[in-house]
Amino acid sequence: MTAPGAAPTLTTARLRLRDWTERDLAPFAALNADARVMEFFPRPLDRAESDALAARIRDHFARRGFGLWAVEAPGAADFIGFVGLSVPTFQAPFTPCVEVGWRLAAAHWGRGYATEAAAAVVAHGFRQLGLDEIVSFTVPANVRSRRVMDRLGMTRRPVDDFDNPMLPPGHPQRPHVLYRLPRTAWEREGSERRAPEPTRPALEHGNARRQGDEPQR
Ligand SMILES: CC(C)(COP(=O)(O)OP(=O)(O)OC[C@H]1O[C@@H](n2cnc3c(N)ncnc32)[C@H](O)[C@@H]1OP(=O)(O)O)[C@@H](O)C(=O)NCCC(=O)NCCS
Repeated sequence: MTAPGAAPTLTTARLRLRDWTERDLAPFAALNADARVMEFFPRPLDRAESDALAARIRDHFARRGFGLWAVEAPGAADFIGFVGLSVPTFQAPFTPCVEVGWRLAAAHWGRGYATEAAAAVVAHGFRQLGLDEIVSFTVPANVRSRRVMDRLGMTRRPVDDFDNPMLPPGHPQRPHVLYRLPRTAWEREGSERRAPEPTRPALEHGNARRQGDEPQR
């Protein structure tokens, strides 16, 4: 589905972040139809909306070389959801920017998969793409998602809170919190928390705990 080579494969200890395939569309539609997964979005998606979202994700990879990767848990499940980087299309005080985002099937929550995949994605963003900052945002009530942001070392300042212009004024999900991760903070955190291993290739990581090594520049 995604043009071959458009999405580089990222590998962590337990996960493969890879190109989308036609086989992903049915399980993707199932998670997009799940009210629990979509609790903090306006509403669940039907099959056509889910397929259209997958097509936009594929198009983002083709245009930019990065996007929301399909996530596979080898030995456990062929497709558990997406984790990746995207460029929001709306305007806000912090745009243009690159956002890290995630959406996993509820059966796969509570195992650290989102954080493990997102750590690899963030490392790819800083090392391979040379980004200066990665942001993330959600509604204040989405505590699970905010915990992933915290675990990645992202920080929120109330002054950055914003109204998501994709939703109409007065919509209960319009107020959002913004989390930022400047490259400098990621480098500092990585060097404090993990043993540096600068010669290791940035793609095809064998161990997610090595994701924060000193970036190769
Ligand atoms: C947001 C979302 C991806 C978070 O999933 P999650 O499973 O809670 O997050 P993680 O994968 O990082 O897992 C962390 C949890 O797994 C637990 N865990 C179990 N085994 C673990 C392991 N080996 N390593 C790390 N954490 C582990 C942790 O204790 C943690 O639980 P806690 O938060 O209760 O302390 C998921 O809730 C989701 O898809 N939500 C719907 C979509 C959505 O809202 N997306 C965000 C929109 S902005």
